Amino acid sequence: MSYKPEGKTDLLWMSKFSCFEEGKPIRGGIPVCWPWFGAHPSDPKMPSHGFARISHWNVKSVSGGNGFTELRLSLTDKDPSDERFRTRPFDLELSVRCGKKLEIELSTANSGKVDFKLTEALHSYFSVSDIKKVSISGLSGAEYVETAGGIGENRIQSGSVLFSSEVDRLYFGSVCDCVISDPGLGREIRISKEGSRTTVVWNPWIAKSAKMPDFGDSEYPEMVCVETANAAADSVTTAPGKIHRMKTVISSEN
Ligand code: BG6
Repeated sequence: MSYKPEGKTDLLWMSKFSCFEEGKPIRGGIPVCWPWFGAHPSDPKMPSHGFARISHWNVKSVSGGNGFTELRLSLTDKDPSDERFRTRPFDLELSVRCGKKLEIELSTANSGKVDFKLTEALHSYFSVSDIKKVSISGLSGAEYVETAGGIGENRIQSGSVLFSSEVDRLYFGSVCDCVISDPGLGREIRISKEGSRTTVVWNPWIAKSAKMPDFGDSEYPEMVCVETANAAADSVTTAPGKIHRMKTVISSEN
């Protein structure tokens, strides 16, 4: 929900209108989208972005060391109370390591007997001074699909990502660091990743914000999502007995 390195302001954003209710995702921080990103591939009644972000996780361990705290959480196919989410065997682990950097790793172990195909995202909401003044580097040359306004068009990014209207993009084959430059706050946020080939960039702008009950009408300038993901054409297939890992590392510099 929040990551505030010592002496710095929060890097993450949380809506003042976020629900903190059983069965509902939070609107901010880093919800875990898994085992599907966006709408369920075939059943429109299933929740958006999977069930991991609305499930109770188990605490596996809490440890600390020289300047960091690490929390390991787990979720298995036996845990969800809703039977619709218990369809195949899995062992999911989320490790959150907090120190000068925030390191989050999501590991999917396929404990079943058949391949496990999934899409996923660490849906990171970042706090910015004014979306109209920020830029995101690291995606130039990447192919993306723009889904804002139902466009669904494939394009190539040229230079930094800038914002002057709704942006809802999946950048494919994107494995490099992204940097959010925010002159208003005088800071840069670096997002590095491993095991992820999609970067999702999202700002709902005015009309979409107004439609979301857990998102204030005037909050869109304060946030931007840059999500470490594997989505759509970058879906991941994990063979029985294998583990797939996806990691994001977040840090800031003045
Ligand atoms: C983004 C998607 O990752 O999440 C958007 O690209 C979506 O299309 C947004 O609107 C928020 O989704 P949700 O389910 O948390 O409202």
